[in-house]
Amino acid sequence: MKMIRWTLFVGLLLSPWVQAAQAPAPLAQHPPGGAVASAHALATDAGLQILRDGGNAFDAAVAVSSVLSVVEPISSGIGGGGFFLLHDAKTGQDHFIDAREIAPAAATPQAYLKPDGSFDRDRAENGPWSAGIPGLPAGLVHLATRHGRLPLKQSLAPAIRIAREGFPIYARFARGYESRREVMERYKGTRAVFLADGDAPEEGEVFKQPDLARTLELLAEHGFDGFYRGPVAKKLLEGVKAEGGRWTAGELAGYRIKEREPLRFEYDGWQIVTAPPPSSGGIALAQMLQMLEPWDLAKLTQAERVHLTVEAMRRAYRDRTFFLGDPDFVKISMRQLTSADYAAGQRSTINPRKATPSDLLSGEQTPMEDEDTTHFSIIDAEGNRVAATQTVNLLFGSGMVVPGTGVLLNNEMDDFALKPGTPNAFGVMGYDANAPKPGKRMLSSMTPTFMVSQDRVAVLGTPGGSRIITMVLLGILGYADGLDAQAVAALPRYHHQWMPDAIGIERDALPDDVVAALRAMGHTVNSPKEAPAGRRSSDAWGNLQTVEWDRRANVLRGGTDPRNPVGRAGMIEAP
Ligand code: GLY
Repeated sequence: MKMIRWTLFVGLLLSPWVQAAQAPAPLAQHPPGGAVASAHALATDAGLQILRDGGNAFDAAVAVSSVLSVVEPISSGIGGGGFFLLHDAKTGQDHFIDAREIAPAAATPQAYLKPDGSFDRDRAENGPWSAGIPGLPAGLVHLATRHGRLPLKQSLAPAIRIAREGFPIYARFARGYESRREVMERYKGTRAVFLADGDAPEEGEVFKQPDLARTLELLAEHGFDGFYRGPVAKKLLEGVKAEGGRWTAGELAGYRIKEREPLRFEYDGWQIVTAPPPSSGGIALAQMLQMLEPWDLAKLTQAERVHLTVEAMRRAYRDRTFFLGDPDFVKISMRQLTSADYAAGQRSTINPRKATPSDLLSGEQTPMEDEDTTHFSIIDAEGNRVAATQTVNLLFGSGMVVPGTGVLLNNEMDDFALKPGTPNAFGVMGYDANAPKPGKRMLSSMTPTFMVSQDRVAVLGTPGGSRIITMVLLGILGYADGLDAQAVAALPRYHHQWMPDAIGIERDALPDDVVAALRAMGHTVNSPKEAPAGRRSSDAWGNLQTVEWDRRANVLRGGTDPRNPVGRAGMIEAP
């Protein structure tokens, strides 16, 4: 009897029916179409249209980036910079385009001190001295000419049209303007654009930028020279000088993007491809994920999981403070900092039941400024992909529009350690490695990232100042847990950056009992729900935009951050 059953069982196993039922679906070689997720529906739609018109993911990235520059001056623009992580499906290669701003020669550390030697925060955050030489226009030209297949003119056309015809102002734009109003209205060029009708921008009004449309047209017609030489460059130099700043023609014409080797490491069966220095994001992710890898996070209580993740964050951000900067100026021990052995050493200092106090830092906690920056993610039908994060730094950057250009300058100089050991707007500090030098790039937290497993590919990133890296970390852990793109974009967020020695959480990100358990382990937890009246505290952070390709089911999915009502993730089918 037993023998008969066994034979039956083996026979069944060998039957084609059972084999078909048990064999995993084959992996698709190409996505079924294209997917774009960005912080503004107009940008997503422009990217999808470029894909429909025969462009690849890199052409679509030019369209999305430039439209974001027009519709989100609050976050990024051609007066700023960004990082573009690319995967070229044909060659199988990943590229990292560093279009980060650089320091002008006049911007020495002394330039940011008041006569009494104290730090001049206003100069670091507002007006011409806060701005680095922009990198984004050069990034767009490089992306289109080296990686795209459509003319730059075609990919920039949606941005030019929207700048000229205008778009409806949304709530975040109007609120952001109000919060930066005093600074923005200091500058003639800014008043001409933002007070064109005599009043501050209001939600629902149509916002037009004819000068910016013309500047984008010159970029489309003349490429690099359309921005960095000729009439636009002349206006930039004159405008900066008129407001008391100092840039030179050589600094503009000498700006170059850098193609850098992306940073790669393994986590839990995923290959992570991410941002190298001058981003601090990739190194910090490698450290945190390698510290966490041996723990089966899914089996822990939420309090244990948050505790261990926070301890990894604390250690990685400490290294960020001391060791990271522009790799063209400082030697960074990449091999050591990203090695599994180094992570094991750091892990061994983590007490699984007790918070490790960060070194004492005298003085008040620095409240974090509202962050801005923007991210978009793209996959096309050939399997090319782009993760791009771009920024003017804080809300509306320096607040200064250069007259006659529509170009709102960044305030990225504040990302340098302008005064060693003095926290910047994000409360992060730095020392020599991130001191300003002529032509040097300021350390960034922008972390555009790919995750590739045997059967899934994900593209993700977010704005959020120094919290960018921990939001991307939580996104990676979410994908590794099996969440889909939309669930990853919606994940609740918590953050620790070594100093100040406190876990920050979004409103309701953690249940009260988990907060209590963390406090019992020795953590300080700053919850917006408990913020004393009058103290600024933000309830929701980030604006994560992600797309994924499930190769087993051969479906594309998009995730747009529910915290941002004007974002959109969209998909098209392959023609
Ligand atoms: N300006 C924000 C960053 O680059 O990290």
